[in-house]
Amino acid sequence: MKKFAIAIATATLSLLPLMANASGGGHNEYIVDAPINPKDKVSLQNGAQLFVNNCMGCHGLKYMRYERMSEDLGIPVELTQQYLNFTTDKPGDTMGNAMLEEESKVWFGVAPPDLSLEARLRSSDWLYSYLINFYEDASRPYGYNNHVFPSVGMPHVMADMEEELDKEEFEKNMADLTNFLAYVAEPVRLERERLGVYVLLFLFILFWPAYFMKKEFWKDIH
Ligand code: HEC
Repeated sequence: MKKFAIAIATATLSLLPLMANASGGGHNEYIVDAPINPKDKVSLQNGAQLFVNNCMGCHGLKYMRYERMSEDLGIPVELTQQYLNFTTDKPGDTMGNAMLEEESKVWFGVAPPDLSLEARLRSSDWLYSYLINFYEDASRPYGYNNHVFPSVGMPHVMADMEEELDKEEFEKNMADLTNFLAYVAEPVRLERERLGVYVLLFLFILFWPAYFMKKEFWKDIH
């Protein structure tokens, strides 16, 4: 029994570095922690607005519906239709993108990928760091390069914003945008975190009867 417990403990411990790596996504000195808070509705709303105004011309969110976003972010559906939906899509439609893949490949060399799951694919730290790490580079077709995604095919679409705002304000906006994309990638996260606490609590409580029962069963054998 002891050996078994030790084996389980060793197995769990040896998995820890793997789990830590999975959320990292490569070593790059420019990747910093994204200062985001999924419970901050104002930040999520600002992120949504930044996304539809600056990104949606090229990127879609095909797994998100306007209606769901309105509900989760606390925005009345009419306001979403008026200010956040520039298409003829109905509230129940997904926020996919109408840009044709073939054409965009000609324009940028690569089709802009759908960003519904980007925050899970790359991590929100990567996403935030990518957004704040464009720099001028005359050798690139659009005059900009990126420290986190070298030779990226995407133009620096927030170049004007980055110039007009001071560093702190710009980074706050990019954090809000990241917060929004992290929400889109995992709309049920808040719910799951709440459930997770109950699961841990349940396991903790269950441990004690299990422990004493085991003691009771084994006491005559030892
Ligand atoms: C003018 C079109 C255009 C706009 C607008 C645009 N992008 Fe992009 N984006 C691209 C293209 C093209 C790529 C593919 C680049 C590549 O793979 O080299 C890309 C790639 C990306 C990637 C990396 C995807 C990957 O490979 O993991 C992210 C993240 C991203 N864009 C976020 C954004 C965000 C956030 C905005 C809004 C602030 C935005 N983009 C606006 C064209 C655009």
